Amino acid sequence: MYKITTLLGSPRRNGNSEQLAAAFAKGATDSGHAVRIIRVHTLRIGGCIDCRRCWMNGTHCFLHDDMAEIYSALDTSDVFVFAVPLYFYSWPAQIKPVWDRLLPYFSPDAKADIRGKRAVLLAVAGDESPSCFDGLRKSFDLACGFCKLDIAGEIYANGVYAVGDISSGDWLSKAEALGRSL
Ligand SMILES: Cc1cc2nc3c(=O)[nH]c(=O)nc-3n(C[C@H](O)[C@H](O)[C@H](O)COP(=O)(O)O)c2cc1C
Repeated sequence: MYKITTLLGSPRRNGNSEQLAAAFAKGATDSGHAVRIIRVHTLRIGGCIDCRRCWMNGTHCFLHDDMAEIYSALDTSDVFVFAVPLYFYSWPAQIKPVWDRLLPYFSPDAKADIRGKRAVLLAVAGDESPSCFDGLRKSFDLACGFCKLDIAGEIYANGVYAVGDISSGDWLSKAEALGRSL
């Protein structure tokens, strides 16, 4: 059984990425995994200030904010799921600081390790062209490579703009199948 943490990057209640995350969670829980969804929008998470204190001490970030909740979830999870809307062809502002503040895991003396864990990306966008995800796809690929996270699956749902558009097509069943397949 995997412990799965989903970082939900949309501020919209029951929006498209939340529905995609819920479908993924259904498949995963049906297969016996435990899923926790964190609504990152409700947390206060500042950007990395490049003080390098984490780097010198091998500890988690020195900024005192809600990233502590995410660190403890990641430390105890096997799989991280990023469920995000595409904002300006990239990560929404809710999620980008989470990536930046993974830096402490890669200091030479890091006391916690996420290398070898698995990562999933569930992304939605209004644009009709799948190429709108090119930047996000590349960022996810390179970031997972740097973090030594194994990519366990990616869903890029294009043409999904208004709340509920995710129900058209087979995106939700694909997400559920991906969750079940872990
Ligand atoms: C600030 C902002 C930026 C956006 N940028 C893009 C974009 O670059 N490309 C795109 O296709 N859709 C863009 N969208 C549309 C959202 O990706 C789309 O509505 C998505 O379905 C929202 O997902 P949600 O319901 O999970 O919040 C943007 C929406 C907002 C609010």
